[in-house]
Amino acid sequence: MNLIHQDLTRRRFLRRLSVGAALFTVPGAFAEELMRTPQQTEGPFYPDHLPLDTDNDLLIVNDTLTPAVGEITHLGGRILDPKGQPIRNALVEIWQVDNNGVYLHSHDTHAARDKNFQGFGRFLTGSTGEYYFRTIKPVLYPGRTRHIHFAIKMKGRDKWTTQCYGKGEPQNERDGIYTAIKDPKARAAVTIDFAPIKTSRLGELAARFDIMPGLTPEA
Ligand SMILES: [Fe+2]
Repeated sequence: MNLIHQDLTRRRFLRRLSVGAALFTVPGAFAEELMRTPQQTEGPFYPDHLPLDTDNDLLIVNDTLTPAVGEITHLGGRILDPKGQPIRNALVEIWQVDNNGVYLHSHDTHAARDKNFQGFGRFLTGSTGEYYFRTIKPVLYPGRTRHIHFAIKMKGRDKWTTQCYGKGEPQNERDGIYTAIKDPKARAAVTIDFAPIKTSRLGELAARFDIMPGLTPEA
């Protein structure tokens, strides 16, 4: 990546971060209401080849003009330590299927992949612990309800993974990985709203997923 490109990417990234932050000043989402987020399996589809573009906008790969197909979703939240304090320098990674239900993985060949969907993204948290991605609402693929995979990487800690799910999804109750979470509060901690943004003429959605992995950052 040359310097000009890096700078463009950075500006794009910052602009979108501020949009994201504005969307997520939702009252009531306080740490006191949170419980520890249950850890969930990484699953078999963490990308086996990372995309050239690993930024936090999964709708645009590099500087192509054609965006990915799907319901545009602004996904954000905070990474919190066991006391509810924000964790900085946590690398948040997400990966999910495209609108055809296909992962960015060479073993996932059950349908054609949307080449414009990045499939994977990264965000490094700052002092507020916030992360933000622009992505699509996940679709169903054989055997699973809608979900987005998360990995949290912190210095000196093992990689920690979970998955988040949509509230009110009929398939949730038939999903073996979701229903393996028995505690209703723990289940609620990974079940989020994909809420329409009223002012969006494109039908964009906002989703907030605060994550408390139960990890304490290294001093
Ligand atoms: Fe999955």
